[in-house]
Amino acid sequence: KTCILIGAPIDSGQRRPGCLMGPAAYRVAGLPQVLADLGHAVQDRGDLTHGALEEVRPANPAVHSLPQTLGWTRALHAATKAALDEGFPIILGGDHSLALGSVSGAAAHAEAQGRPLFLLWLDAHSDFHTPLSTTSGNLHGTPVAYIAGREGFDDFPPFPAPLPAEQICLFGIRSVDPEEHAALLLHDIAINDMRVLDEFGICAPLRGFLDKVRAANGMLHVSLDVDFIDPAHAPAVGTTVPGGTTVREAHLVMELLHESGLMTSLDLVELNPFLDERGRTARLMVDLVASAMGRKVFDRPTRSFG
Ligand code: ARG
Ligand code: MN
Ligand code: MN
Ligand code: MN
Repeated sequence: KTCILIGAPIDSGQRRPGCLMGPAAYRVAGLPQVLADLGHAVQDRGDLTHGALEEVRPANPAVHSLPQTLGWTRALHAATKAALDEGFPIILGGDHSLALGSVSGAAAHAEAQGRPLFLLWLDAHSDFHTPLSTTSGNLHGTPVAYIAGREGFDDFPPFPAPLPAEQICLFGIRSVDPEEHAALLLHDIAINDMRVLDEFGICAPLRGFLDKVRAANGMLHVSLDVDFIDPAHAPAVGTTVPGGTTVREAHLVMELLHESGLMTSLDLVELNPFLDERGRTARLMVDLVASAMGRKVFDRPTRSFG
């Protein structure tokens, strides 16, 4: 594959400074070389900027940094859409608000190809608030709602073609606000919360979703939030929630994604290097990307199950 690295030094979707150092931390942790060692071509496009900002006041006074978030959304949309024409975009965040742009860019690309876009959201959080429903005012808690076509995004560019619920899979969820909870039930989106993963493990729920992507000849955008992983292993994140996936479970997700051959774009979000312990979270994220891009302990034929 041709991996296209897009740095997205974004801090404005939440309040704790530091995520803007994420792209640099991934480079220091060796991501470009790891991809090259796996046999991929690597194009590092450097870091994006958000361009000129317009003056816009949010209808919900809790919301902060709306102009910045709109600027980043436009920049990520364009960069992701363009990169998909040439290769496999990996967006180096930056907080999760970047997915407002990366996924809308991927959706625009998929629409032009006449293929459906599927979304795998690996996260402790459902990020299903709208700019009207959020109480924290942190727009990193809103991308899934934008992608699913919830109302309340009047200040944003219209989402190309909102993804039907069947094309969205939330995975690893363990923190959902009451308003998100009610809206998720209405939208009927697949929620593989930690309760589901405890009972069934990673494989069965993920294979079920990947089978749907394959059957539909879909494109697949994967958005990996650091807090998907338990904070014991991945401390460098502002929104830690105990009870997350283990290192092994996270690798298994990545290995299944690689074996499926279905993933077409990837976000790495919410890494806050200022909170890290000697780079261990950045290195773990790089190792997870390696698994997703073909690193194996043993190169044996893929086992098929039933
Ligand atoms: N639901 C909470 C909020 O809206 C937390 C969101 C956390 N999102 C994230 N991308 N880490 O503030
Ligand atoms: Mn998130
Ligand atoms: Mn999260
Ligand atoms: Mn954060």
